[in-house]
Amino acid sequence: EAVNGKQVGHLFENISSFFRQCIFSVLSVGPVPSHIAFIMDGNRRYSKKQNLLDGDGHRAGFSALINMLKYCYELGVKYITVYAFSIDNFRRRPEEVESLMKLMQEKIDELIKEESIANRLGVRIYFQGNLKLLSAPVRSSAERAMVKTAGHSKAVLSVCVAYTSTDEIVHAVQESCEEKWDEIRKQDANNAGGNLVGREKNGKDKDEHLIGVTNIDSHMYMAVVPDPDIIIRTSGEYRLSNFLLWQSANCLLYSPTALWPEIGLRHLVWVVLDFQRNYLYLKEKKKQA
Ligand code: FPP
Ligand code: MG
Repeated sequence: EAVNGKQVGHLFENISSFFRQCIFSVLSVGPVPSHIAFIMDGNRRYSKKQNLLDGDGHRAGFSALINMLKYCYELGVKYITVYAFSIDNFRRRPEEVESLMKLMQEKIDELIKEESIANRLGVRIYFQGNLKLLSAPVRSSAERAMVKTAGHSKAVLSVCVAYTSTDEIVHAVQESCEEKWDEIRKQDANNAGGNLVGREKNGKDKDEHLIGVTNIDSHMYMAVVPDPDIIIRTSGEYRLSNFLLWQSANCLLYSPTALWPEIGLRHLVWVVLDFQRNYLYLKEKKKQA
């Protein structure tokens, strides 16, 4: 009986899935990172290199993301975060911004279909950033995806769009101030308005009304997930480009030369082995902090 292409494809998928299971069970003997963040750089260079149309580099980038998600969740990495679009990216050519946004909307809608990876793996999706800056259709797709996956808890994918770290920090500081002001107003109302002068004179009371790290921390967009253990930026660039600055104090950084659409299992394995080599040292560092 002739073996058709589909059967060969299936066979290949089964063999590579078995191969991955073997590698992951060896890796799982050591500590596995709980959160990996990716700066998906090099999509346009990839489309040049492969003689593709401009937008096809980003399309290939999305497929690479789906594969990477699958590998990470198989390995037991519960939290994945990706930098999909920075606030600075709005300064790119309008045609490019528009086509990227269109792709984003198409892929978000794909992500929440019944048979999608998000549903199969039980992934909760968050979109993090200044979502007001997105066009209405993209924003409503993003919001729909967040609502539809809100009941999932096996794994978490955070997609940073219209995001920069400085914007996130400013937003968190503003929210903290507002929260503090509300508290003060409530207290003043309880004290029948008479105590304001007394409160300002009293040094101890005044300190209680200052904003601290925990206040700001709790208002970060990324407060819903633990800090990343690892940030990977592809295409050989070493800059953080305003990504997770607040959250990366104790984070390992990797910069493989592969362009984002070229990233694969070997990069993940390498990074996790290196994480395991650094694990005890990092744990000690976190304790001291
Ligand atoms: C950076 O490469 C990549 C982006 C600006 C966009 C990445 C977005 C995706 C892969 C789609 C994600 C979609 C969802 C729904 C999560 P670059 O354009 O800077 O390429 P270059 O460095 O080669 O110029
Ligand atoms: Mg780039």
